[in-house]
Amino acid sequence: MENNSVFNLIVESLPSSQAKRLVHGRGGVIKGWEQINIEVYPPVLWVMVYQSLDETDLLKTLNEIASQAQGLGIEAIYIQRRFQKDDPVEVFYGSDAFIGIDHRIIEDNLSYWVNLGRNQNTGLFLDMSEGRAWVKANAQNKHVLNLFSYTCSLGITAAAGYASSVVNIDMAKGAIKRGQQNLALNDVPCVSNTFIAQDIFKMIKKLTQKGPYDLLIADPPSFQSKAFDVRRDYEKLLTKLKPSLAPNAQLMLCLNSPALTPDFLHELVERVFPQAQFITRIKNPPVLADQNEEHSLKVMLYQLPA
Ligand SMILES: C[S@@+](CC[C@H](N)C(=O)[O-])C[C@H]1O[C@@H](n2cnc3c(N)ncnc32)[C@H](O)[C@@H]1O
Repeated sequence: MENNSVFNLIVESLPSSQAKRLVHGRGGVIKGWEQINIEVYPPVLWVMVYQSLDETDLLKTLNEIASQAQGLGIEAIYIQRRFQKDDPVEVFYGSDAFIGIDHRIIEDNLSYWVNLGRNQNTGLFLDMSEGRAWVKANAQNKHVLNLFSYTCSLGITAAAGYASSVVNIDMAKGAIKRGQQNLALNDVPCVSNTFIAQDIFKMIKKLTQKGPYDLLIADPPSFQSKAFDVRRDYEKLLTKLKPSLAPNAQLMLCLNSPALTPDFLHELVERVFPQAQFITRIKNPPVLADQNEEHSLKVMLYQLPA
């Protein structure tokens, strides 16, 4: 993709009432933008720069957007430079009114709190939007276990999709609290929503007691020090949770490590659940195009036997 089409890519998606990723430079298909992602959390344009680089094209593009901001529904443009200490945020356009505050956004008719600039993660991983859409469309009447829930967005979509029950677990207390606040923002039909702020490995027994689950969602970090390492712990985790799964249960297993391909998950599932069928890999939206799809976010669906 030509660099000058980045402006078009952004403006064709604006104005937007929905939070979404607009530019996924990290996918490597936009020459010169490999270290830049841009998202919109209406009315804020949120630019993340991952490495020190010549910002001439970026700043030119942002100036063009700023000059049409009102028509595009943009009130502020912020740049977070993640290669600098403490990820400083520059106010490129507008005021700093949306920095460090709880800001309510919408995705697929559901509301979530985000906080721009408090830390690297805003509170909602926008690249998981298709995963959330799939869960919402497939959770009906299911008992759902949402592992590594973070702010529970996948659990909220399950609850909105008429799940019978949803158990969310994450070791980060603040993320679980935010998950409860996110649930409170939405009028969902599922009334059985559980939030557990604990290390998953310490709660296997309790999680099993709350089962059996018809849908297991696992979206772990690739590597988080002692807490979780995909290579070291993914198989161990699934093995421990195997007894808590119902017949015909579905597994939504995520892998966000560029170094690991879908085969890593296929082989792992084959070892732990030899009878499981691979259903599909949830397609990333076109905006997340990657020069190597094996390296991009992998959201894989499997089905256990009856
Ligand atoms: C990639 S984020 C999950 C994103 C989330 N699924 C979503 O859709 O927003 C990974 C999460 O795993 C949590 N985590 C890592 N190791 C864990 C463990 N052993 N037990 C519980 N949570 C863990 C982290 O606190 C973090 O919130």
